[in-house]
Amino acid sequence: MSSKQFDVVVIGGGPGGYIAAIRAAQLGFNTACIDEWKNAAGGPALGGTCTNVGCIPSKALLQSSEHYEQAAHHFADHGIGLKDLSIDVETMLGRKDTVVKQNNDGILYLFKKNKVSFFHGRGAFSKAVDGGFEITVGDQTVQGRQIIVATGSSARALPGVPFDETQVLSNDGALRVGAVPKKLGLIGAGVIGLEMGSVWRRLGAEVTVLEGLPTFLGAVDEQIAKEAHKAFTKQGLKIELGVKVGDIKVGKKGVSVAYSGADGEAKKLDVDKLIVSIGRVPNTEGLNVEAVGLKLDERGAVVVDENCRTSVSGIWAVGDVVRGPMLAHKAEEEGVAVAERIAGQHGHVNFNTVPWVIYTSPEIAWVGETEKQLKARDVKYKVGTFPFMANGRARALGDTTGMVKFIADATSDEILGVHIVGPMASELIAEAVVAMEFKASSEDIARICHAHPSLSEATKEAALAVDKRTLNF
Ligand code: FAD
Ligand code: NAI
Repeated sequence: MSSKQFDVVVIGGGPGGYIAAIRAAQLGFNTACIDEWKNAAGGPALGGTCTNVGCIPSKALLQSSEHYEQAAHHFADHGIGLKDLSIDVETMLGRKDTVVKQNNDGILYLFKKNKVSFFHGRGAFSKAVDGGFEITVGDQTVQGRQIIVATGSSARALPGVPFDETQVLSNDGALRVGAVPKKLGLIGAGVIGLEMGSVWRRLGAEVTVLEGLPTFLGAVDEQIAKEAHKAFTKQGLKIELGVKVGDIKVGKKGVSVAYSGADGEAKKLDVDKLIVSIGRVPNTEGLNVEAVGLKLDERGAVVVDENCRTSVSGIWAVGDVVRGPMLAHKAEEEGVAVAERIAGQHGHVNFNTVPWVIYTSPEIAWVGETEKQLKARDVKYKVGTFPFMANGRARALGDTTGMVKFIADATSDEILGVHIVGPMASELIAEAVVAMEFKASSEDIARICHAHPSLSEATKEAALAVDKRTLNF
């Protein structure tokens, strides 16, 4: 059997893999990408978790459910009357599927445009060959001088409670619930728990989230997390912290979760559906890493250095399958950096300026360090905050929850972190990322002209607040 030869072979067509393949092709390498994801018809569905069961479909449902929430509770404030408001879940899911397909097809088009060869199927290492590696894809083999592993991650199940995607749902099933459940339970108040909980709560489900840790959103700046917790609770999301989940019984009609509360009291939660969102595990099963001696850590993640080099020269790994935050944009940046390194360039990812966004309402977004992290490092800092309540555009939008918070070095005034909870935080954070990449001070932002009326004025005002001279508060 003859092998097809490539300069670069990427295993995995999620944001880490497909972007790495495109960048490698742009740099003049003969590139192939292998991806096994199938759409409902069995055809290819490029884009990985992000496009198929992650970032894109979740944001489509967040948008639909937010429209519903606005229509149900806020249109009246604008003098808009609605009779017989209803939600057709099938249409909502259909729209989401269309958005996903547009993205799948978009990546196939990009592969054609950039002359990336695509192989649909599971890739597995077969052996090291002279000047590269051989990989099997079904009954074909391909060889690459350089290999990029970008196989992503999958939802972690609770021990003894497998996902059936009907009653016990991973992120996949959570995006395909055919009718609004009366009672929905979630285990894990992390990013997926809050986003998916918000979708189904807005559509009328009674949602309870059980979180193991005693603090809410421990990675988020404390002041921001507190504000978000207040907003979510007011919306009707029930969040129980510090719980210990015990027996889970899956019956014909629902799921029963035995747990103890923070005070140790034994409790039970009966729900129609249960989403388990307790983190994700790297996808390395079936890759046959032993064939080439690729080292994995105790979680099954591919071990890499800061430049995504694995233990085997000529094999790289990026995205969710390696250490670091499981974020699509982090995977993409690593993919680009690796392709550039293969080309002898100096691709680099600045982990200190990777933004985080939680697409709830209010949105939560941040970049850089929290007060807690700075205290732990004994760094002296100044803080400036500005509430959206005092921002004209937020008032006009009717969305005044939250604030922008700047943390700057006490001596140099360099921005160390920006934390936002409020409308369009996902978009506002970009300015902070640029500022931090350019090592800006809070005074730099405070002296930049921002359009009026805009939410971004709250960013400028928070920067002014570091020097205690807000103009509108
Ligand atoms: P993946 O996207 O997981 O892609 C890996 C691909 O490799 C898959 O197509 C898989 O089928 C394929 N594959 C695996 N093994 C093999 C093999 N042996 N052979 C061939 N193909 C293989 N991140 C954000 O930044 N923003 C968000 O808003 C966001 N929302 C999310 C919402 C949800 C519900 C979830 C679950 C995740 C979300 N994420 C979000 C995280 C984001 O999806 C991941 O960080 C991102 O997809 C990681 O990209 P990746 O390329 O490393 O892996
Ligand atoms: P997560 O790590 O964000 O949250 C998991 C939560 O579950 C944590 O709070 C943890 O303390 C809790 N937990 C763990 N085990 C538990 C147990 N046995 N009982 C009760 N609570 C338990 O993981 P999640 O939400 O599954 O998402 C996975 C990853 O996907 C995220 O870390 C993020 O990187 C990515 N993602 C990103 C999004 C975005 O960028 N907007 C959206 C959704 C996911």
